[in-house]
Amino acid sequence: MSTKSQLLTLLNENIGKYISGQKAADMLNISRAAVNKAATTLRKEGYPIYSRTGLGYSLREKADLLSEAAISSALSVPCSLHVYDSVKSTNDVAKELTPDSVPEVVIADTQTCGRGRLGRSFSSPSGSGIYMSFCIKPDFELDKSLFVTMAAAVAVSRAIEKVTGKKPRIKWVNDLFLGSRKICGILTEAQTSLESGQIDRLIIGIGINCFPGNFPDDVAEIAGAVSDEPLSFSRSVLAAEVINELLTLLQTFTDRKFMTEYRRRCFILGKEIRIYSFGDKKGIRARAIDIDRDGGLVVEYMEGPSMREIKTITTGEVSVRFE
Ligand code: BTN
Repeated sequence: MSTKSQLLTLLNENIGKYISGQKAADMLNISRAAVNKAATTLRKEGYPIYSRTGLGYSLREKADLLSEAAISSALSVPCSLHVYDSVKSTNDVAKELTPDSVPEVVIADTQTCGRGRLGRSFSSPSGSGIYMSFCIKPDFELDKSLFVTMAAAVAVSRAIEKVTGKKPRIKWVNDLFLGSRKICGILTEAQTSLESGQIDRLIIGIGINCFPGNFPDDVAEIAGAVSDEPLSFSRSVLAAEVINELLTLLQTFTDRKFMTEYRRRCFILGKEIRIYSFGDKKGIRARAIDIDRDGGLVVEYMEGPSMREIKTITTGEVSVRFE
């Protein structure tokens, strides 16, 4: 655990009380200067840490820490957890791991180079989100990987519903929305063996905006949060529920039963959408009709050379207008 997390944990355990710099330094086995530096950083990140000469440091309200201990205590499935304050991308950290008997799960409070789909960046502010990646050794073929992403969308929806009572809706293929705001994105990456056509390792990266975060303007226009009230639920508990739901669902997802729930949660069916292929900014108008048994989106084109034709798309991105 970093000095910052250690100090936050200590202050969290002594909510409302002052702890002197010397006492904190002794308890954490660091220098007073290191305590002061960690407190300054935490304050900059928005934690309400007060300091008074002669008294020390005090945290005014409970901070929502993403901690290994809190996540582990809410887990009901076996996995190997790796919790960090900050990493470049949890997908990159997960790629370096080797899942043996249990899946590896990497979780961070913030990412400095979070990646989204189609080469975009994924804004990952500290203290308000959950950035997590699963590294699993799957026993299924490459053509099932679209399903994995879809199963992850269902699993995260179930977890959010269980912890907060809110009912996220899915925009094909892997975005979660509450109302007209995106609250979660999923990026699945595979490492395959060309000889066997089998996936060696599958990395399922999930980014959830739990509370309003410090987003750049372009992201703030579309990003929402699971709850507008900071600290109204525990990020550690939600992270654990995502692990519980996803690892349980992955044991049976090839039976495709979860697809009924996916369709029910998918809010674009029956709606007019725009389909964007890679690099295309304008898109093409179509109506979303169904999700086929392989996870593809069945659409009827409403303009262009394929006007009135019904086709199934398996890549690219769609957008929908919110009334
Ligand atoms: C998207 O909406 O385009 C997908 C976003 C996926 C973001 C998650 S956050 C955890 C993991 N690490 C990354 O760098 N990306 C994924």
